[in-house]
Amino acid sequence: MLQPRPLSEADAPQLWRLDQQCFAPGIAYTQEEIRAHLRNPRQPYHRGIEVGEELAGFILTVRTRGRGHVITLDVAPSFRQRGIGRTLMAAAEQYHLANGATGMQLEVAVNNAGALAFYTRAGYNVIRTLPRYYSEDLDGLLLHKDFAA
Ligand SMILES: CC(C)(COP(=O)(O)OP(=O)(O)OC[C@H]1O[C@@H](n2cnc3c(N)ncnc32)[C@H](O)[C@@H]1OP(=O)(O)O)[C@@H](O)C(=O)NCCC(=O)NCCS
Repeated sequence: MLQPRPLSEADAPQLWRLDQQCFAPGIAYTQEEIRAHLRNPRQPYHRGIEVGEELAGFILTVRTRGRGHVITLDVAPSFRQRGIGRTLMAAAEQYHLANGATGMQLEVAVNNAGALAFYTRAGYNVIRTLPRYYSEDLDGLLLHKDFAA
């Protein structure tokens, strides 16, 4: 049974290590950015899943303009395709829905085919392209899921 647990600033070093495994330099967050997200007061919902002693995955979300906003969703390479990402997303969606959000929103790099497949499977649609969102030569995609749909 995968049970998401709350995260605190004390978890920042291991969240940062996992984020470094999940994203390329320049896209991965710094440890200070992760700490700032953990302190964000906008209805944060941050959870991690441990398998044994190891942090297998985590999600950071806040509330932005009436929607839940995924800051990042990270699953360690050796724990992928086992339902951990889906469990974390479902828990975050449930929290934001229960707290009055109309839907969920997030950004993904145009070249992140695995994440795009994952989010499509989870019911997300591409709203628009975000030119140079990640870097001079890497656009983002804005994805949305409407809870009423
Ligand atoms: C994207 C990511 C979070 C998926 O996590 P995961 O734990 O492997 O996903 P799950 O096992 O819960 O998969 C849920 C569904 O998505 C599908 N899926 C997951 N990764 C996929 C991939 N790379 N390609 C195709 N489908 C994929 C699964 O097959 C599953 O489908 P099903 O409902 O038919 O069984 C993980 O690959 C990851 O951390 N990637 C690096 C970081 C990243 O890109 N994060 C997202 C951007 S914020």
